[in-house]
Order: sequence, then structure tokens, then C-alpha cells
Amino acid sequence: MPRQHDEARAVDVSRGASVESRGAPWVLMVLASLWLGCKQAESTPAPVDPLMAKRGRSLFQRGQSVRGNPLMGFLAPERVELSGEVAACARCHGPSGRGSREGGVEVPDITPGALGHSRARAVGALEDRARPAYSRTTLLRAITQGISASGRELGVTMPRYALDDAEREELLAYLGQLGEHPDPGVSPTTLSVGAALPLTGRRGPLGQEAAAVVRAVFADVNASGGIFRRKLELLVEDDAALHAPQKATPPGSDATTRLLDRGVLALVASMRRGPLPSDARLTEEGAPLVLPLALNGGTSDEDSPVFFLYPDEPALARLAVQSLAATRESELRRKPLVIVHTGGDEGQAWAQAVRAETTRRELRAPMELLLPDGPLPVEHWASAPPPAVLYAGTPEGLDTLLRALEAHAPTVRVLAPASLAIPEVVGASTGRIHFLYPAGLGERAPEFKDFAAFMKRHGLAPGHTSFQFGAYAAARVLVEALTRAGAEVTRASLTQQLETLRDFDTGVSPPVTFGVNRRVGVQGGQLAALDPTTNQLVPVSDWIPLTP
Ligand code: HEC
Repeated sequence: MPRQHDEARAVDVSRGASVESRGAPWVLMVLASLWLGCKQAESTPAPVDPLMAKRGRSLFQRGQSVRGNPLMGFLAPERVELSGEVAACARCHGPSGRGSREGGVEVPDITPGALGHSRARAVGALEDRARPAYSRTTLLRAITQGISASGRELGVTMPRYALDDAEREELLAYLGQLGEHPDPGVSPTTLSVGAALPLTGRRGPLGQEAAAVVRAVFADVNASGGIFRRKLELLVEDDAALHAPQKATPPGSDATTRLLDRGVLALVASMRRGPLPSDARLTEEGAPLVLPLALNGGTSDEDSPVFFLYPDEPALARLAVQSLAATRESELRRKPLVIVHTGGDEGQAWAQAVRAETTRRELRAPMELLLPDGPLPVEHWASAPPPAVLYAGTPEGLDTLLRALEAHAPTVRVLAPASLAIPEVVGASTGRIHFLYPAGLGERAPEFKDFAAFMKRHGLAPGHTSFQFGAYAAARVLVEALTRAGAEVTRASLTQQLETLRDFDTGVSPPVTFGVNRRVGVQGGQLAALDPTTNQLVPVSDWIPLTP
């Protein structure tokens, strides 16, 4: 078949189709054939290679190839180099490629529907941006040389890219299907969200309660019309195996993997102790996990798909050093802090964080002791008390430490994460131990009134409240980000909206803020003491923001 004819028909057909049935597979095939372009001998329309497109996603969205190489672009005319994240197409053209007109610069729509059609000169426009439809060849020329399909030199804000062969194929494949079919979990009537929770076993009751809270938040949203008319649907997979006491590797795929296989847009309020092998799948697919109910708080790198509510223990260790240094810096320059922990990865991470923070602040290098083996030099501490002991580990270890101090070194103070504020362990030592608490106390305490009304309205009973709060916060954050992402929500646009959340009030936590390189929503904490009469935590400091 002569190629001119082929191309003309392609444009025609797709033009008609784009109005009524966007995203029908044959439209994709037609557009793909359009891009395979003039030079190629093949006349049969080749569909977009889904594997290639998946790889191209990383270039487009994150400015990095799946092989880990940064995308390289140059800004004309000085050829200022842009590489990696700042060069990502999504930064300017948006995660869905639909462009924008913000900030005076018009960034064009580069979805196949736009590039595959000719563009007339806009009425009243200063510059003539009219151009014919792009072919594969002219599209590549635009990306690498900055020349539009009409031969016009594109504005200087559009970088000129240096692409190797693999990158070229991957990027074009991704562009070929951009915005044409919705991400997993998005249908005209529903948005499917997953939660990996223990529904059976020892933590089953926690998981059940968390799922009930998320469902109830979704039910409220659905009762008021859904999000852009789509109903929110929660799919839950049981990951009891992950929480089994013997920590054996669960057979087969974990709950997160099963949810991704079922095709959810994002995950919310999944329960976890730490990183999981399936996190790689989340990253690969760009599916965000919104506020896992982390048993240990969280941290994660920029670009990670996992958004946490509270900081993890190493971050609290840094907070402890920071708060001590704020009032007793000169003492800390002379006398070493003491780290006590009960070993394991968690203990090591705690010690490592304290050491890093003391080094950074040029304080004396801390002393590290391991329980139960290491003898505590408590007799020595009686005459020469250290500025403070920073403890993390098992409740039994804390018990040993507090008893030894009680007997021999009554003036030594202890700082520990609030997960250890257990009345039976703290006992008579309430005066000497302060807890690092990120969830807000005193003036920072959330009001909980919306939450209380919500629980009542849905007939939900208070159970493991910190998990119920976590699930509520997670669902509220997700709903907010989905609403902001709009009708054409994708995983990428949802992630982008999460990254722009500032001081969001969940109703059950201090305000939540994320950023491009900030994946912990509440960054800071207070020192708290355990009130022996009420067994409640009471604030003994103002809010201490965690400095980066
Ligand atoms: C720093 C912002 C920025 C980045 C990053 C960027 N672009 Fe652009 N792009 C623009 C602007 C602005 C224009 C419009 C220039 C003009 O029309 O003069 C444009 C134009 C285009 C055009 C021409 C569209 C048309 O209708 O003629 C294509 C195609 C395009 N970009 C693709 C890409 C791809 C693919 C990437 C990533 C590899 C990318 N752009 C990255 C800002 C950017």
C-alpha cells in the first residue's frame, strides 16, 4: 500500500475517533503507524510495544532510564546542560503530557491526539505556531534538535535531548500511548485502590479495623458523588503471612504484588514493618503507597513511591540529639552521649543516626552499649553522669536499663521513642525518661472532633486507635490528592499531587507536608513524659521541627 495513502487515512480515522472513543486500541495502532513514519518500509500498523512504553515512562516521568542513566538535555543557545529529574518531560508537559499555560510560557500538549494532528495558527497569537501533524521523524527531530514539524525552531524552554538508540525507542513508545489509555484502577465509573493488611492471624483485628475505617472514608466520598463522578473502591489483600511471628518468607507473591496484579491505581494504609521486596514493583509501576501503617514510622528516598505519615526511629534519634544540643551544646562538646540498644538492624540504625548527628554538630563522639550482653557502667555514671542515654530496642532492654539506673545512677536521664512508653516498663522511672513523640500533644494535639463524629456516624468502635487514626489520615490524604489530580488522574499525576500537599489537616495528626524529596509528612516531634496517674503522654517541650 502506498505510504502517503496510509498516512492520510490514519490521520482521518484518528481524528474522527478522538472525539467519541478515545483510547480504543485501533486508534493506538493507527497513531503508532503514523509515527513509524515515512522512512520505514513497513506498511502494517505496528501497535505500541507495551514493554518499551513501560521503560519510556521512567524517562518521561523521572528523567532516568530503566538502566539508571540520567536523561540528558541542553537548553539552547548556550547549551546549558540539564540532566535527570530536571530534564524529565513531565516537569514541563505534566505527568499526563497535556501541557499547561502556567507562568506565561505555553507548554504544548504532546499526547498522540495533539501531535498526530495539524495545528492552525491561534487567533491573535504573536507567534505562528501552526504546524502539520508530526511523523516519527519530525517528532524525533523536535526532541533532539528543537525543530517543530513546520520547520520552526522551538522556543528555548524546550530542551534539546541527547538520546541513545534504546532511549529513543522507549521514549517514542511511551509518547505513542501517552494519555490514551487510563492507568490501572481507573475506569469511567470507579477508582480502585488497594490495601495490603493482615486480615487473619495475630494482627488480623488491627487490619480489619484499619480496612473498616478506610472503607467508611470512601463511603462518605461516594455518598457525596465520588471523585469526578467516579466511586472509590477498596480492594484488600490479606498479608497475614508478613506479620506471622516466625517472619518466614511468605509463599508466593505478597499482598502488595497481588493488588498490583489486580490493577489498583494506588495503595493506601497498607501495614508494614519496613521495606519489602515488592517495593521494587511499586517503583517500577509508579504506583504510590499512601501512608502505610508503619509499625516503626518511615523514611524513604526522594522519588520513592511510599509516602509516610511519621518519621522512623533513626529520625527520632536525630531529633533527640537536636533537642539536647539546643539547650546543652557546650556540655555535649565535652561529654559523650550514651547510646544503648538491643542490637539487630533497628538498633544499628538507631546508633548510626545518633553518631551521624553528633558528628554533624561537632559534638563528642557518643559511646555505644549493647544489651543484654554489655555491662552498663552505672557505678561510674553515679559520679560522672553522661548528658543523656538514648535508648531504642526491646521493652525488656529498657526495663534492664531503668532498673540499673534506678539502683546506681539516679540522676541519669533517658530519651526513647514513644513506642516504648509502656507504663509497666517505665514504672517508677517516669521522672527520668522522656519520649520522642511525633503525633502532636498539648497545643499541637489534633482536635479529633471530626474523627469522633465520623466513627459514630459509621457505627465504628474505637479499637487499636493509633492504627485507626493512621488509616483515617491515610484515606483523607489519598482522597485529597485524588481530588486535586482531577478527572484525568494517573499514577504519575497522583504522585505529583501528593508531592505538592502542604500543611494538610488530616484531623488526627499534625499538619502533613510532602515534597519532591520529602516522603515523611510530619517532620518533628515533642518530648513527652508518661503521667503515672493517667498513663497518658504529656508534653514537656514545644514542637521541635526536624532539621534536614
Ligand atoms: C523545561 C521545560 C520542558 C521540558 C523539560 C520538555 N519540554 Fe517539550 N516543550 C517545552 C515548551 C515550552 C515547548 C513549546 C516550544 C515552542 O512551541 O516554541 C515544548 C515543545 C515540545 C514539542 C513540540 C510540540 C508541538 O506541538 O510542536 C514536543 C514534541 C516536545 N516538547 C516533547 C518533549 C519531550 C518528549 C520531552 C522530554 C524528553 C520534553 N518535551 C521536555 C518545554 C519543555
